[in-house]
Amino acid sequence: MSITKINNIFHLSNTDMSYLIKIMPNGQLEQLYFGPTLVLKEDDFSLLEHSEGKAAGTVKYAKNSSFTLADKHQECALYGTTAFQEASLEVTVHDTPHYLELKYLDYDTQKEKLSYSGPHVRLNDDAEILSLRLEDAGLQLQVTLEYVFFKKGKNISKRVLINNNGQHDIVLTRALSSTFWLEDANNYQAYHFSGAWISERQLKKYPLQQGSFKVESLTGTSSHQHNPFVAIAKKETTFDTGMCYGANLVYSGNFIQQIDVNEWNQARLMSGISPYTFSWQLKPNENFATPQTVLSFSQDGLNGLAQENADFISEHIISPFWAKRERPIVLNSWETYVFDFDENKLLTLAKEAAALGIECFVVDDGWFAKRNNDRSSLGDWYPNPEKFPNGLQVFAQKIHQMGLQFGLWFEPEMVNEDTELYRKHPDWIVEPPQGRYSYGRGQLVLDFTNPAVVENIFEQISRIIDETQLDYLKWDMNRNLTEVYSNYLAKSGIRQGEFFHRYVQGVYQLYEKLLERYPNLLIEGCASGGGRFDLGILYYSPQIWVSDNTDAIARLDIQENTALAYPITCLSNHVSQVPNGQIQRITPLETRFNVAIFGILGYELDLLSLDEHSKNIIKQQITLYKNLRHDIMTGRFYQVLKRPNQHIWALQSPQIILVGYFSILADINQSTSKTFTLPFVDSQTTYDIVDNQTVSGSLLKYRGMPVPIALNGTNQETAALVGDFQSKLLLLRKH
Ligand code: DGJ
Repeated sequence: MSITKINNIFHLSNTDMSYLIKIMPNGQLEQLYFGPTLVLKEDDFSLLEHSEGKAAGTVKYAKNSSFTLADKHQECALYGTTAFQEASLEVTVHDTPHYLELKYLDYDTQKEKLSYSGPHVRLNDDAEILSLRLEDAGLQLQVTLEYVFFKKGKNISKRVLINNNGQHDIVLTRALSSTFWLEDANNYQAYHFSGAWISERQLKKYPLQQGSFKVESLTGTSSHQHNPFVAIAKKETTFDTGMCYGANLVYSGNFIQQIDVNEWNQARLMSGISPYTFSWQLKPNENFATPQTVLSFSQDGLNGLAQENADFISEHIISPFWAKRERPIVLNSWETYVFDFDENKLLTLAKEAAALGIECFVVDDGWFAKRNNDRSSLGDWYPNPEKFPNGLQVFAQKIHQMGLQFGLWFEPEMVNEDTELYRKHPDWIVEPPQGRYSYGRGQLVLDFTNPAVVENIFEQISRIIDETQLDYLKWDMNRNLTEVYSNYLAKSGIRQGEFFHRYVQGVYQLYEKLLERYPNLLIEGCASGGGRFDLGILYYSPQIWVSDNTDAIARLDIQENTALAYPITCLSNHVSQVPNGQIQRITPLETRFNVAIFGILGYELDLLSLDEHSKNIIKQQITLYKNLRHDIMTGRFYQVLKRPNQHIWALQSPQIILVGYFSILADINQSTSKTFTLPFVDSQTTYDIVDNQTVSGSLLKYRGMPVPIALNGTNQETAALVGDFQSKLLLLRKH
């Protein structure tokens, strides 16, 4: 692993990747390469230079010079001189655009100097950093491009730090985190994960062509509609072969991922805070740091990319305390009782849960103040005296005495008008000066830019954590931000353009305060399902509620797409009731579990209404999950096959392979695949399928074995597995 500088080129490399940056003749920086490790001799460096072509930009950087930025891969993209694409960094001075000229000054490799506020890539002894300092001499604005990478791994993270060393007040109107360039754009397509509430992260493909394409969130969160992760893959890339790149942001607010393809078929991907809702004032001596973008790549197809992402996130984003730690199997009260419960109902349910092997009992929404529907009480975080006449402390003790952990739901960022909190602090809401504001679920957003608000909520939540010895906290967030305006910022002389970013910082501050006081508290992220599924939240919450859609079939797409960007060890999956609460589909209990096992398992259904047979099935499921939990937490997830009617997944750990086979509709013509191969298997290994049958790795790898279930309803032996929505798990143990 090294950082070398030969002439005007920096080479950052480890065992798996290289990243090359060049200082151009005008002092700006150019990205030359990001991909598999290059072993470069001195001679090779001259071959990295582009020749200046006549066809390059028509406007030249200086008189009698052929140099132009138009076709250069600007590492920090600037607009205003000879390049005609949007910038990644832009400032105004006294409301006038200033055309930045950022020239290279010097570099630094000292880790000790780095400081962060908010979520970031966690450093360790394997980390190398490079800080490249640039300056706009006119403004005395210093811009540092900071790179972090590790001994191994096909990833690099980047952010931009901006220091105003000059005399003027300046305003950042754009401060994106990273640019990434590719030649031959039309050989590639972008993958993005757009969706909606109850259908988050649906995979969409966009062929790259001249023009611009963006995914962006403007809801105040990373959103249901888009996810900060995008990939760019060669058109021929499959699950297991082909080049692909990924970019994700360590950020939970409004973001943008923008791809521009120019007339030379060069693609440029820029990532960062959405400029549409951002501006930031920098007075003299003030500074600003963007969130980090994590770039990754794989030559081994989408599974390869998924695993690069998963490894990186487990090692450098998720807290080391939780990353590989087995998580408790929860029973969550929401889909069973919604708001309609009391202490006795809950205790009866908890007793049944404990008997089935569940480990943590979570009381979801409805336990506090006067909350009997979704129009009241958010912000008053004390137990509802009617539901808990003996107090929450006594209730929590009873749960703990059953050998269960105890969990509670909160929605810290919200308030209802009919609350003590609102009556006492009406100016603590996000409220525009013109008066009218929008409602979401009957609730208003608390002004998390105001530290006093964050402190109040922290104190209220802490009191409950102390009282109940809380083990698990579900942090929900159920409405978008609208008409944003902060009385607090106005009084503090801070521009409203800073609201969205400061709001997200407030969220991170509450997380930090909680985790500082309760370092081992398991906080599960949630935002009406998966509306804030991002690396910022994962830094604090090692698991996130994937979607309010718990239908096993809908989950197939949602979970496998999410797994391209995030480890399955952060996917909180619950087996829920049928007909499904969101889409009314009836799927077998086995299928609901077989999907949920690929992640963090929980249950969210009325155990008391189940017959003995179903309870026995659940008992067995829980036993199996506990047996495999270590493998799930440490294994690798693969998408093996995907057809309109068929999905096959696999999880491989050093000891086992768990194959999940899912058939959607019974298929009379058997148009689905009848065999499947596992290309990642070691051909020399033999696996036990059942007690007396083994299978050779080479057969699995090259020829393939039969799919484990019949599809067309004619096979009497597998009669239990015919019909729609069938699935089967196949456990292969190393012989
Ligand atoms: C939305 C969440 O996604 C659900 O799981 C549940 O917690 C409800 N909110 C409760 O209001």
